[in-house]
Amino acid sequence: MVVIAVTGKGGTGKTAVAALLVRYISEKTSKVLAVDADPDSNLPDALGVEVERTLGDVRELFQVSRDSLHDKSSWLEGKIFETIHEFENFDLLVMGRPEGEGCYCFVNNLLRGILKKFMRHYDYVIVDCEAGLEHFSRKTIESADYIIVVTDTSRKGLKTARKIKELAKELELNFREIFLVGNKVAGDEAKRVIKDFAKKENFVLLELLPYDERVVELDLKGEPIVNLPETSEFARRVRFIAEVLTGWGE
Ligand SMILES: Nc1ncnc2c1ncn2[C@@H]1O[C@H](COP(=O)(O)OP(=O)(O)OP(=O)(O)O)[C@@H](O)[C@H]1O
Ligand SMILES: [Mg+2]
Repeated sequence: MVVIAVTGKGGTGKTAVAALLVRYISEKTSKVLAVDADPDSNLPDALGVEVERTLGDVRELFQVSRDSLHDKSSWLEGKIFETIHEFENFDLLVMGRPEGEGCYCFVNNLLRGILKKFMRHYDYVIVDCEAGLEHFSRKTIESADYIIVVTDTSRKGLKTARKIKELAKELELNFREIFLVGNKVAGDEAKRVIKDFAKKENFVLLELLPYDERVVELDLKGEPIVNLPETSEFARRVRFIAEVLTGWGE
């Protein structure tokens, strides 16, 4: 099992990249789990699918019914199983809303163990993270093999990318590689800014993704990004990322 986590500042294109990675990687293997780890969930829309239940719903249900549950662990396991939605080419788990008030340590510890067990069934787990590194510090997802940090050319985007890299190191996350992906890159000057940043910060620059009017168009029409045609340069380059990450392109 290989876990790929897509992170970065808000609005940089994490969900767009994650959704297309799900699409391209699931063309090669049927065992792909997409995880929407952003409480402001929108990966289902980007993938063009709908889900009925989130992990947050299960957690809340557990909190209100825990005293009456006989075997808490197998109850949770059953509920998580129902929460993993199966689609034609991939499965999808939406983490959903954050915790309410009260102590969630007990349920969270159980969840972590069960999730780990479920994730082992997949070849690839692709996680669309919430902006920043919240999920890593909370250890919801204990370790990713590959961390992809998406940034645009804004100062804030780059600053967040730097922070994520520092935090990943500080937390001693057990990843194989942390990559930088530039997005909405328009023009040579923008390319140079990102390349210089990657060099200075010792980031492996995986790809520079162009600003793409067709991405905006789909968004305006309310269509999923996975409908992006193959002729789109953005789509072509994300496919290349998928090939690099999976080793098929070599
Ligand atoms: N290469 C691109 N060219 C043009 N528009 C883009 C590109 N990539 C993403 N966008 C647009 O930018 C916006 C943000 O993209 P997206 O939702 O993928 O970012 P995000 O990092 O997941 O945001 P959030 O932090 O809110 O989850 C969307 O409206 C999307 O259509
Ligand atoms: Mg997003």
